[in-house]
Amino acid sequence: MVPVLTRRSAMAGALAALLAPGSRQAAANAPPALRDLAAAKGILYGSCVQEAELAAEDDFTALVLRECAAIVPENEMKWQWMSHRPDEEDFSVPDRIVDFATRYRLALRGHNLLWYWRTPDWFKALPRGQSAESAMVRRVTEMCRRYRGRVFCWDVVNEPIDVETGRADALRKTVFLDEIGPDYLDLAHRAAREADPAASLVVNEYGIVYDTPAAEQKRTAVLRLLERMKRNATPVDALGVQAHLDIGGDPFSPPKFRRFLADVAALGLDIQITELDATDERAPAEIAARDGLVADAYARFLDAALDEPALGVVVTWGLSDRHSWIVRHECNAQGWRKDGLPSRPLPFDAALARKRAWTALAAAFRAAPPRPPGKWAAPALALHHARR
Ligand code: G3I
Repeated sequence: MVPVLTRRSAMAGALAALLAPGSRQAAANAPPALRDLAAAKGILYGSCVQEAELAAEDDFTALVLRECAAIVPENEMKWQWMSHRPDEEDFSVPDRIVDFATRYRLALRGHNLLWYWRTPDWFKALPRGQSAESAMVRRVTEMCRRYRGRVFCWDVVNEPIDVETGRADALRKTVFLDEIGPDYLDLAHRAAREADPAASLVVNEYGIVYDTPAAEQKRTAVLRLLERMKRNATPVDALGVQAHLDIGGDPFSPPKFRRFLADVAALGLDIQITELDATDERAPAEIAARDGLVADAYARFLDAALDEPALGVVVTWGLSDRHSWIVRHECNAQGWRKDGLPSRPLPFDAALARKRAWTALAAAFRAAPPRPPGKWAAPALALHHARR
């Protein structure tokens, strides 16, 4: 095994190389980092990462450190990933990500406490009622307590809405709804707040960006849910908009999306873009054309989104095309490119060269109206260091 110090110095070397390709002059001329462009407007920018990517301590890890002020574990905090037996969780891998964030002074988004799709089988087999409720509350409490002061916000319930169910409250039919009832969401948020009063609590949802009847219905359902939570004094601080963009797919209406964000902000909530990327299976094979379309999608989306001052966090679901769920062809087997070419969904290509999507992000941050100084970036980072 390579000694840690040697690997760290290799990463430091890679970082130095990124910052100064060839000479000091080149370093001086290097483009700014996304984290700095965002921070100049009071916005926190980051990416999801996998623990193995950080552990590699290679040029990609160095790029994360250069570009990101925040990281999000892509999978490692998901309950099913951590727990194979009732009430037993293995914290070792999430701990390593949290330690990495602390060591390098990165803010950390917690993703996620509960997600119907990544819930342990043993939980699904529990009898209805009390035992399910206490297992759920225990999971939420343990995670929030353990990482108190080191995770600045939590996606408490990931993807709670499904308008297809026909329920008046539009809650998704999940094991939590079945076994605990419609109050499960409020119970989970209360447990999270009690375990870590300082962490922001986020409702994270997908399918609420485009201008289609289904997305419009879902936006309305999300608003109703947030209103209900506020009315019931359920602790909730932000809406997370996943934003998996789709090139050549559904139309996007900046004014409609902008209106929706204003409605969320009017409830006194913050907004975070939590999983920005772009699938390109319908885009042409030619790379320049494809990258142009991906960049245009980022630009149109971000121009509308960043116009809302309550939006203070932007996370891309990955940083380089080297590591992306879209490139790994997970979760959407029918959707990927038919020509077999690798997808190009993120700001850097697989060789870590900046793409036009990077330029679109940079331009969007530059053009964004400034946020109140210290509202997002500074508290998120301070939280990490206050309790060290
Ligand atoms: O780690 C195993 C590996 O050992 C095995 O060889 C391989 C074979 O398929 O699977 C690997 O696990 C995969 C894991 O990603 C890590 O690559 C799982 O099969 C795969 O299901 C898992 O997919 C993740 C997915 O959530 C489901 O948890 C994606 O990486 C992750 O990007 C995706 O992220 C979600 C957000 O959490 C919520 N919003 C939507 C977003 C995209 O689906």
